[in-house]
Amino acid sequence: MSPHVLILGGTTEARELAASLAARSDVRVTTSLAGRVSRPGTLDGDVRIGGFGGAEGLAAWLRDHRVDAMVDATHPFAAGITANAARAAAVTGVPAVVLRRPGWKAAPGDRWHEAVSLSDAAALLPSLGRRVLLTTGRLGLAAFAHLRDHRFVIRSVEPPAPPLPPDVAVLLARGPFTVEGETLLLREHRIDVLVTKDSGGAATAAKLTAARERGLPVVVVRRPPVPEGLTTVPDVAGVLARLGLGPR
Ligand SMILES: NC(=O)c1ccc[n+]([C@@H]2O[C@H](COP(=O)([O-])OP(=O)(O)OC[C@H]3O[C@@H](n4cnc5c(N)ncnc54)[C@H](OP(=O)(O)O)[C@@H]3O)[C@@H](O)[C@H]2O)c1
Repeated sequence: MSPHVLILGGTTEARELAASLAARSDVRVTTSLAGRVSRPGTLDGDVRIGGFGGAEGLAAWLRDHRVDAMVDATHPFAAGITANAARAAAVTGVPAVVLRRPGWKAAPGDRWHEAVSLSDAAALLPSLGRRVLLTTGRLGLAAFAHLRDHRFVIRSVEPPAPPLPPDVAVLLARGPFTVEGETLLLREHRIDVLVTKDSGGAATAAKLTAARERGLPVVVVRRPPVPEGLTTVPDVAGVLARLGLGPR
């Protein structure tokens, strides 16, 4: 029987990897989604949805479904599932690789301020600006809820989860975004500071260019570290090489 690859998904890269593997006759592929997004879109190969029940549940799933290799292609900030993947790989012996798009790099003219957490980002805001474009996702926004003198424009794919700061406008949108569109957004809302996670990738990078062009400060929340013992590759080709699958 063909080897079975489990992709822990929820990203563009996971979707690309699923398409690449599903097109081959020498592997079977299953993508796992957390089930957070109401319309995840179509995925090539098999799909399963919902949590596994911690590292032990994931380990049991790997055994029960005879998984030969696991690819953690989750978002760089989805630290819980990555930690579970590391533990499940260790207890089952199933080889695992992490597919992580590279983080963003500051360019000349950028005014970036690094934060280690959302709380750290919130602490930086009073010295940087009053009108904030917040693009860190729908969760964890309680870190900003105490900032009563700031105007927040929160952009997320799904509605943001309370508690939120008092002065908020919500924009529901999914990338990719363009520099023109982001510039218009910054101008229309008279944004004077941007807050983002270091998600990396092209789909949401236009806001950084737009902020640079307007001379705006950007608070960049650093990624959590990948657990020790997991190999990280930057792209689909790196995964295929790691799995010993040549090009087709
Ligand atoms: N965090 C972000 O900024 C972000 C952005 C875009 C997309 N996403 C995607 O959204 C999903 C959830 O992100 P998160 O930050 O909430 O994750 P997380 O905090 O790392 O994970 C929390 C729990 O959600 C379940 N889970 C997460 N990803 C899963 C997957 N691919 N398949 C099955 N169960 C999964 C696991 O539950 P059990 O312990 O029960 O197994 C995990 O312990 C991820 O798949 C990620 O790729 C996250």
